Amino acid sequence: MNTEKKAWWKEAVVYQIYPRSFADSNGDGIGDLNGITDHLDYLKKLGIDVIWLSPVYRSPNDDNGYDISDYRDIMTEFGTMEDFDRMLSEAHKRGIRIIMDLVVNHSSDEHMWFIESRKSKDNPYRDYYIWKDPKNGHEPNNWESCFSGSAWKFDKTTGQYYLHLFSSKQPDLNWENPAVRDEVFDMMTWWCDKGIDGFRMDVISMISKDPNFPDGKILDGIYGDPNPYVCNGPRVHEYLQEMNRRVLSKYDIMTVGEAAGVTVEEAKKYANNEGSELNMVFHFEHTDGSSNSDSVLGKWTVNPPRLSYVRGILNKWQTELEGKAWGSLYWDNHDQPRAVSRFGNDSEEWRVLSAKMLATVLHMQKGTPYIYQGEEFGMTNTHFSSIEDCRDIEEINAYQQYVTDHGLIDSTTMLKCFDTVARDNARTPVQWNAGRNAGFTTGTPWIKVNPNYTEINAEAALEDPDSIFYYYQKLIRLRHSFPIIVYGVFHPLLETSDSIYAYERTMDGKALTIAANWTEFEQKCTLFDDIDGDELISNYKAHRTGVLQPYEARAVLH
Ligand code: GLC
Ligand code: CA
Repeated sequence: MNTEKKAWWKEAVVYQIYPRSFADSNGDGIGDLNGITDHLDYLKKLGIDVIWLSPVYRSPNDDNGYDISDYRDIMTEFGTMEDFDRMLSEAHKRGIRIIMDLVVNHSSDEHMWFIESRKSKDNPYRDYYIWKDPKNGHEPNNWESCFSGSAWKFDKTTGQYYLHLFSSKQPDLNWENPAVRDEVFDMMTWWCDKGIDGFRMDVISMISKDPNFPDGKILDGIYGDPNPYVCNGPRVHEYLQEMNRRVLSKYDIMTVGEAAGVTVEEAKKYANNEGSELNMVFHFEHTDGSSNSDSVLGKWTVNPPRLSYVRGILNKWQTELEGKAWGSLYWDNHDQPRAVSRFGNDSEEWRVLSAKMLATVLHMQKGTPYIYQGEEFGMTNTHFSSIEDCRDIEEINAYQQYVTDHGLIDSTTMLKCFDTVARDNARTPVQWNAGRNAGFTTGTPWIKVNPNYTEINAEAALEDPDSIFYYYQKLIRLRHSFPIIVYGVFHPLLETSDSIYAYERTMDGKALTIAANWTEFEQKCTLFDDIDGDELISNYKAHRTGVLQPYEARAVLH
C-alpha cells in the first residue's frame, strides 16, 4: 500500500532559468525576460511543468542578481515589471508555473535598508543587519566568506563590522529582528498576490546564526569555517514555521529551500510531511563532496566524482526520506559545473549516451527533478584560458586569495580547477543554434559562448529524433503517466558495484527496475535477464543478454 499524499509539486518537473545567460531579446548581450517569453513554446515542447527563475529583481549585480537592492522591482537589464507580468501570463497560458528565487539571507549593500543601516548606530534600520564591535582591533571572529576573504567588513562611519557570508556587497540580514521578518513576509505576500507559483529559497539554511559567533576551524590556513555556526542554526525552523504560517500556507504554491550544509536528519524537519515548513530542500552532499578531495582549498579540485560515492549519497537520501519528507533531484544548476562533464563523459564519442544515462538515473528516482538550462541538449563545461575569461565573483576572489595573495596554488592548476568545477561553466550562454553567438544575442555576450555551440545546440537537438532533448521529453512524459515514477518506494540494487547504478521502484504490486552503466566499457549485468516486462525507456535500441553496453541505461516495468 502506498500512503504518499499526492501533490502537484511532487508530480512536476522543474526547469531552471538563469536569465542572464538564457536568451537576449534586444542585443545588449544580456539575457532578459522577453528572451524567456520568446522561448516558452520551446519549454512547452520539452514538457516541463515549472520554471524556477533565478533572481530578476533590481540589483547592482555583484553576484548576478543574488544581491538585491529592491525586492519589488525588476533588474533594468532584464526589462520591466510589464515584461514580467507578460512572461508570467504567457507561461500560465501554456500551463507552466513560475517560481521565484527568494534571496533573503542577505540583501545588496545598495538596498535602502542597508544604506540607512550603516548611517548610524541609532538608525531605525541598524538592526536589520548584523553589526559587531571590533575584537582587539580586528574582525569579530575568524569566519571566511563563501567568496573568500573575511566574512566581516569594517565600516568607518560607525566603527563596527558587518557580517557578509557572501560578498561584501551582500550584507547578511538579521532575522532575529522581527521587523526584518515582517518585511520579508510582506514582500513574499506581494509576489504571491501577483500570481507567482512559489519560491526557491536561496541559502535558506543560513538565516539563523549561532548567537555566540565563535571562531571556526581553520581549513585553508587563512580563515575559519563558519558553516557549523551558520548552517541549520538555532532558530531556522522557528523562522520557517513562522513564514509558513504567515505566508506559504495561504497559497497553493511550491517551495524548495537551498539548504547548504543540510543533513538528511535536518532535511526531515525542513521538508516534513506535515507541511509545517517547506515542500523540499536541495542538499549538496553529492556535489560538494563528489570529488572526494581532501583539498584544503574547499571546492577547488580537478578530481572526478566516483560512482560509489555519488550513489551512496543519493541512495541514502532516497531511503531515509521515504515516508518522512519529500526530496529534490538535480545534477547541476547555476552554481555547479555541467552535469555531463562532471558525472558523465563529455567526449564526442560518449556525450550523448552518457547524458541520457545520467538523465535516466536521476529522473527515475523519487523526488521532484530539476533540469538546468541547456542540460536538456547536453551542454558541457567550457575552458578558461585565463582569469580574464571568468565573470563569477567566487572564481575571481578565490583566484586572488589562493593564487595571487597567498601562492597556495599556481595559476595553471587553478584554471584547471575552474575547468572542472567553476560556476561559470553553467553560465555560458544557452546555445540555441549554430549561428553567431550561438543565437543567444546579436550583440556581444556578457560571458564567452562555449565554442562547441556549432555542434551542441538546441536547434540541432530538435532536428534529431534521437537527441538528448527528446530523451528528456520522454522522461518527463513517463513521469506524468506512471505514478510509480512519482510515488513508488525506492530500493537500492547492486550497491557494491563500481560500474553500475541500479535500483528499483515499487508500488501497487508493480516494480520498475532501473540500471545504468556508469562507464565507457561494457559491464556484466544480469538484472534484466529474467525480467519479462515493458521497457519504458533506454538509450540503446538493442540490448545484449548478461551485459550493459557503455553508458547503457534501461528502465523496465514489471
Ligand atoms: C546561493 C546561490 C548562489 C549565490 C549565493 C549567494 O548559493 O545559488 O548563486 O551566489 O547563494 O546568494
Ligand atoms: Ca538583453
